[in-house]
Amino acid sequence: MTRDNTSPRKPTNTPVRRRTFLKASAALGTGWLVLPSGFVNGQDAPSNKLNIGMIGTWGRADAHFDSVASENVVALCDVNEDHLAHGAEKFPKAKTYVDWRKCLEQKDLDAVICCTTDHTHAFIGNWALNRDLHVYLEKPMANSVEEARILRAKYLQKKGKLATQVGTQRHAKPNFERVKELIQDGAVGELSDVYVWGDRQIPKPGYLPAEGEPPKTLHYDLWIGPSPFHPYNPGYFALGPGMNCLSWNMYWDFGSGQLGDMGSHTMDLAWNTIDAGLPTAIESTGEEYNPEVTPVRMTATFDHPANDWRGAIKVSWHQGGDMPRSPRPYIDLNKIGHGAMFKGSKGFLIADFDTRVLVPVGDTADLTYYNRRSAEKVIPPLGHFQKEWTNACKGELKTSCDMDYSGTLIEQMLLGHVAYRAGKKIQYDGAAGRVTNSDEANALLSRKYRDAWTLDG
Ligand SMILES: NC(=O)c1ccc[n+]([C@@H]2O[C@H](COP(=O)([O-])OP(=O)(O)OC[C@H]3O[C@@H](n4cnc5c(N)ncnc54)[C@H](O)[C@@H]3O)[C@@H](O)[C@H]2O)c1
Repeated sequence: MTRDNTSPRKPTNTPVRRRTFLKASAALGTGWLVLPSGFVNGQDAPSNKLNIGMIGTWGRADAHFDSVASENVVALCDVNEDHLAHGAEKFPKAKTYVDWRKCLEQKDLDAVICCTTDHTHAFIGNWALNRDLHVYLEKPMANSVEEARILRAKYLQKKGKLATQVGTQRHAKPNFERVKELIQDGAVGELSDVYVWGDRQIPKPGYLPAEGEPPKTLHYDLWIGPSPFHPYNPGYFALGPGMNCLSWNMYWDFGSGQLGDMGSHTMDLAWNTIDAGLPTAIESTGEEYNPEVTPVRMTATFDHPANDWRGAIKVSWHQGGDMPRSPRPYIDLNKIGHGAMFKGSKGFLIADFDTRVLVPVGDTADLTYYNRRSAEKVIPPLGHFQKEWTNACKGELKTSCDMDYSGTLIEQMLLGHVAYRAGKKIQYDGAAGRVTNSDEANALLSRKYRDAWTLDG
């Protein structure tokens, strides 16, 4: 294993790098690439492979191994050396690191995939964009409103040369587009309300007490990273691969609870349809505030202004047992663990990730107002979600869940926590990123970092 012991590097104005050439010739309009050699090759040609760094090499990372197996994985980074060894079994030629800041110094990188704890996502994402690297960032994209805005703004600056994707891979399910078509083609009439929920409940009293010593192979201080220090407890590492995020994501300094976890996926089912920007007002209710742990039970309601195809709408997020009211007694919404419901002037559409049910309501709900689209206009399948990103890195840079789309989604959700903590309805100026009626709420838009950690490195 290569151990990293050099000091972190600030981004430089690097000369033209290898990846500069890994770009689609938009003019060709073919998705083909122009290479340094001057030859034009198809997207899968061996010389067109991306040099990828994987940050986080166990757990969720496993879900990425196959999709990048046809690229060059040249760097692996994990704070747990056992997990690093797991990644190295798959990609034995890659250099290995325990500190992502040093990993990002590796000169031949084109792109990174980040599968670490939520409280490091915005850091790793922003540092990678600063180094002109394409980024696939696991959800949630950020842990505070400020982080979401910084990352989104950085992406928008670099949109012409970098591809980003936030890891809401359920977005590729065809049902997402079927829901969008039904709502936008008028199947529920004029849309007025959107309800999104998740029923997961993982109550915890507070941060875990100090217990034992971290294993020698775990770089615990790097695991804490930018967050305020909390002593080691094996409980933060208690669950199996791909599930361990449920050991830590409910603590304010490490995650954003269900709102950022399943909320990122389930709100995406609505976000894909409603073409919303940032909300103008937010109000949240829920269980009593715990300064250490995010709420289990909470409802956040967001006001969204009209856009070019619909009027103003209210969007709400319900979690941990809070649920929207069912439109009819014979429909039990509690049977849908993670779902969305769209209410319009002519009825309801209820959906989970894979299926949808239309419930026309009222004597005039005869569906004559529904403009069913022709077969040719049905939205085509997105294809493989991770491949959409690798293809975009080498092609036209377009992905379905880039940091603009996903950045507004998570900013909205995190504002739900801000209103919950402020304990009042807040008015929000999305252009300025400021709450206009509460200084206390403004102070909650950002979070505290340990000295020596900067978001903009
Ligand atoms: N898209 C999905 O469906 C999905 C599913 C599961 C998890 N996730 C997301 O993936 C992320 C990881 O979840 P998990 O359950 O695999 O968590 P985990 O606690 O198992 O962490 C994953 C890996 O990252 C490593 N790691 C942690 N902090 C690191 C750091 N600062 N630098 C380098 N490596 C670090 C860990 O040692 C571990 O090997 C979370 O953000 C979670 O929300 C997404």
